[in-house]
Amino acid sequence: MDRIRIGGGNKLNGTIPISGAKNAALPLMIVSLLSEDTLTLRNTPRLADVRMLQRILQNHGVDISTDGKRAGQSGQCGETLRLTARTIADTTAPYELVSKMRASFWVLGPLLARCGEAKVSLPGGCAIGTRPVDLHIMAMEQLGATIAIEAGYVLAKAPKGLIGNRISFPKVSVGATHAALMAATLAKGDTIIENAAQEPEIGDVAECLVKMGARIEGIHSPTLKVTGVTSLHGADHTVIADRIETGTYAMAVAMTGGDATLQGARPDTLDTVIDVLADSDVDVRKSNDGLRILRNGAGIAPIRVETQPYPGFPTDLQAQLMALMTKAKGTSVIRETIFENRFMHVQELARLGADIQLQGDSAEIRGVEKLTGAPVMATDLRASVSLVIAALAAEGDTVLHRVYHLDRGFESLEQKLRDCGADIERLAGQ
Ligand code: EPZ
Repeated sequence: MDRIRIGGGNKLNGTIPISGAKNAALPLMIVSLLSEDTLTLRNTPRLADVRMLQRILQNHGVDISTDGKRAGQSGQCGETLRLTARTIADTTAPYELVSKMRASFWVLGPLLARCGEAKVSLPGGCAIGTRPVDLHIMAMEQLGATIAIEAGYVLAKAPKGLIGNRISFPKVSVGATHAALMAATLAKGDTIIENAAQEPEIGDVAECLVKMGARIEGIHSPTLKVTGVTSLHGADHTVIADRIETGTYAMAVAMTGGDATLQGARPDTLDTVIDVLADSDVDVRKSNDGLRILRNGAGIAPIRVETQPYPGFPTDLQAQLMALMTKAKGTSVIRETIFENRFMHVQELARLGADIQLQGDSAEIRGVEKLTGAPVMATDLRASVSLVIAALAAEGDTVLHRVYHLDRGFESLEQKLRDCGADIERLAGQ
């Protein structure tokens, strides 16, 4: 297994290109199941999760072609996928595939809407929390599907098609909102989705669906109204910039000091994150190019933050913010309200010298003068990148093990950081 070595102490200066958002690209790829025509997705990040979903969709009969890298193009600028689900060859999503990537469960809605049936494995356990799928199932039942759970599979049937209805979510869920939205586009009549998640990736998916002929009102709001249509056609869509990758590099620059432009970032999707960085005395400037992050000399001020659904502070940046606060001038408190077990980075950050106390869903982080490099273990995607952030500001070398977690969600991480002056390299094998 590959490892990554990071020599701490270098400031980050320069330009970091921001990739397309993983959490938009994955549901957008799944949208292809709703149409016989070709869905072209540009700016798709080159990630292990995208490759895995390609395999899963191919298993359902989706034909996928990928534009290779053109001359003069760097490996950091994404790729174009063309996905055509002319016929659905198989409505089963098997355990072997779904257990490798939770988001593949989201094929349930489109398969049901298009074929009237689907058999999708329950995703099983997850490192960051229990992550049930009851809200996905509730949404499909509201749309008229009958659901049975047998031998670890969700068996969903709607032989006469789905029927529009009111779906009122008792809790905000990104995945369940995607599922309800996708399924409702082909349901008969109107569907109202209340308490919908408002993450920008949902807006991106909704905008793509509209290009495909879907009728959706209230995009970017907590209430979506969908008027079902009989079929969707092809479209050409560019994946929105990754706000979590943007926030991650913003925190990396804040941690090391320096001056970097996060090119192509969408500051309008990061208001809360920008406010938190500004509160911690980081200089954040919106520009036509994206976002510029500067920190020279001034220390990091401690903060109090809790994670919330969008537009609140994202759980997907909680670990990275915690890494930044390990060197703040005082004590910070970060509360995680979305997932019950998303603190696995704490013990690894402690190996680098961080002083963090956990109490229930809150972490108290006392800023320390210095961190020191050490061997550390990646546990999940965002936890692993928090270790990279800490290592960039630690004295000496850190070696990060199990880097396949990073490859799931960060395109060309080492190259992007190296281009800005970081001492970082991948060590193959072992
Ligand atoms: C999405 O996961 C993201 N994944 C996650 O990104 C992100 O952390 C999460 O949203 C929250 O923002 C993708 O977009 C591919 P949820 P999702 O349903 O949809 C509970 C990353 O690192 N819940 O919004 O699975 C659930 O347990 C990741 O890129 C139910 O109770 O998250 C959690 O407490 C990991 N029942 C809360 O809702 C359900 O049926 C929010 O989860 C569904 C969810």
